[in-house]
Amino acid sequence: MRLLIVSNRLPIVTVEEEGQLLFREGAGGLVSGISAYLDSLRGSSFTGPQYRWIGWPGVAVDDPAQQALVRETLAGFHAHPVFLSDRSMDQFYHGFCNKTIWPLFHYFPSYAVCEESFYAHYRCVNRIFCEAVAPLVQPGDVVWIHDYHLMLLPHLLRRQRPDATIGFFLHIPFPSFEIFRLLPKAWRAELLEGLLGADLIGFHTHDYTQHFLHSVLRVLGHEHNMGRILLPNHLAKVDTFPMGVDFEKFQAAAGRVAALVAHPSPLTRAETAGAGDPAPATSEAPLKMILSVDRLDYTKGILNRLQGYELFLEQNPHWRKKAVLVLVVVPSRIGVDQYQEIKRQIDELVGKINGKFGSVGWTPVLYQYRYLPFEPLVSLYASSHVALVTPLRDGMNLVAKEYLASRTDGTGVLIVSEMTGASKELAEAISVNPNSVAEIAAALEMALEMPEPEQIRRNEIMQDRLRRYDVIRWADDFLCQLGEVKAEQERLQARLLDPVARRKLLQQLGQAGHGTIFLDYDGTLVSFADNPKDVRPTQDLLALLQTLSQGPSLDVILISGRDKDTMDDWFGGLDVALVAEHGAWIKPRNRTWRQARPLGNDWKPDLLPILQTYADRLGGAFVEEKQYSVAWHYRRADPELASACVKELVDDLVSFTANIDVQVQQGHKVVEVRCGGINKGAAAMSFLPKDTADFLLAIGDDWTDEDLFRILPGSACSIRVGNRHSCAKFSLPSHREVLDLLREIRVAQSQACVR
Ligand code: UDP
Ligand code: G6P
Repeated sequence: MRLLIVSNRLPIVTVEEEGQLLFREGAGGLVSGISAYLDSLRGSSFTGPQYRWIGWPGVAVDDPAQQALVRETLAGFHAHPVFLSDRSMDQFYHGFCNKTIWPLFHYFPSYAVCEESFYAHYRCVNRIFCEAVAPLVQPGDVVWIHDYHLMLLPHLLRRQRPDATIGFFLHIPFPSFEIFRLLPKAWRAELLEGLLGADLIGFHTHDYTQHFLHSVLRVLGHEHNMGRILLPNHLAKVDTFPMGVDFEKFQAAAGRVAALVAHPSPLTRAETAGAGDPAPATSEAPLKMILSVDRLDYTKGILNRLQGYELFLEQNPHWRKKAVLVLVVVPSRIGVDQYQEIKRQIDELVGKINGKFGSVGWTPVLYQYRYLPFEPLVSLYASSHVALVTPLRDGMNLVAKEYLASRTDGTGVLIVSEMTGASKELAEAISVNPNSVAEIAAALEMALEMPEPEQIRRNEIMQDRLRRYDVIRWADDFLCQLGEVKAEQERLQARLLDPVARRKLLQQLGQAGHGTIFLDYDGTLVSFADNPKDVRPTQDLLALLQTLSQGPSLDVILISGRDKDTMDDWFGGLDVALVAEHGAWIKPRNRTWRQARPLGNDWKPDLLPILQTYADRLGGAFVEEKQYSVAWHYRRADPELASACVKELVDDLVSFTANIDVQVQQGHKVVEVRCGGINKGAAAMSFLPKDTADFLLAIGDDWTDEDLFRILPGSACSIRVGNRHSCAKFSLPSHREVLDLLREIRVAQSQACVR
């Protein structure tokens, strides 16, 4: 298996300095997480997948000679560049990605810009990526697409490579529907469809997964079953995979740091003190280091953090000159206005705090505006007493996990914002609401004063968790589940009535001489409409059913949940047998209606008001009363409101009918209550041919048809319409294919008559 990683950012960034192309490590959680996973494969005895990483090199390179140089250099890192022009990058990367999606998905709607040209370039760049990736995909390859820059790519790639194995992982939050819906309608539908092109879609937390499923239901109307969404052409799975860090790598590196430095803190008072510093009483004690590391981003809450630290120093004068905040800010997305503005504000606030509290020998905030490579970063993690992580919103936040992974002696205190994905797994850390400066200040005091045994107790629990669910396990879990989804799709696919099975079926019919066909109506012979009355059979359909049933060799039974008057009205003129209300009424061919068995409907007056109350509560829902059953339809209702309402209704009905001989069942956007013992299977019994050599076929789309499939003898052929779990032997995608099959049966029949 070959793994093709696709992301906007490659692990190696190409930069142009004074006309020269230079290559550097990239920053950010995506690159560091995936790189750690790939490194772990290289270093271990596990012969993992071969891989390639496809992405934007970080700079526009127009000159073909330079492109060749970049391609060649990156090939040494298994990387494959996708070249994009400056204009594309401006509109796509700085534009739609970082001025629309990034702020919106991080709950900064007021920063989000909705500009048509941004979206047009987003679509265009996703297509360019598709053109770059599609030719690289070989049979057996796994394509793993990452992050918000490429949300349309799974669908685009699926169209070109229908059989490809495609995974998608979102590294940022997926917001609640109330936020997602702020995008124009066409964009939000296309983005969701884009993502659903993948076989497996992963998110960091359960909340993001639920938000996504919720938006899919609200925007596209697709329901899910345990995260599985059955789409017309494939099954997609949605699940949660909290990304971890390479725990052992951080432990080992931190161990090396500890061995080198006798004192865990490299920044002692002596080192930071300047000449003339008034010596405090505890002049020998090392300074307690509070660490803050992030990309420069307004989502990271760096300003709130500084304000919290300022308040802490104000409220706790005894901590002045005993603590220092090491603030590492990594330059990022300099082309976006808000990033420049936040940089200005940070510079200003750092200056203010240092001016207000600092003395010649003590600088309260040690500020570095640069990227730190791995070793110096671990050294900081290993020597900091406290890690202060206060994003206003963050998909995961690996820094928090890396800090814990670097604490070899188990000491150290993590303060983490409850708005990060990581906080869900790090319950033993000190949790803060980053919007509250007072909470941050109080957390700092608590952290600095926490006794060591308590620090160790908390950290051991979190470290155990991080060790077990590290980045390797994260990627393995994702890839393993992707394989399982593929296997599940194959099982579903295997049931598809393909041309070979279809030929066999027609042969069987020809050999049998006589046959019986059970056909459900709604969803099987016609598609659904909002109002059930709107799907009258067309003349074509009636003609097809009539010619099928006219000959001596075939009995056709229309077996439906519809009431008998409608069945009579629509099909009364045909030479077919009819079953209405799921089997309550039976009308053999050319005979009159009879009840399947003596039935009572005295329960209806009690139940109707309940159904009506629920219909009144849910716009678009309505009650249909039949003679021996009642149906509560909700096809026209808001899908999300409906899904909650249906659960409640069914619950109510089931408890209300516990002692009455009725059954409550759910169909396609309908809840039915009908007399006990009535079902399509029982009704079909009276039509089963005595001669076991007869050809027998049943087609239906709903769970009510499962009763029918179940009672058929083993030799019969059963077909379920739609991609659902079923006890039918075969499946067909939609009513259109059912009609095609019936037309073929008609042709086969007329040919048999001619012979
Ligand atoms: N990082 C780094 N050098 C730095 C700052 C950060 O290598 O100077 C890495 C850090 O180790 C972490 C990643 O960048 O793995 C940041 O990931 P995180 O999830 O915390 O935030 P993101 O930048 O993805 O929003
Ligand atoms: C976050 C995103 C990544 C991105 C990283 C750095 O972690 O989820 O997709 O690569 O930030 O941002 P940049 O814009 O420099 O790629």
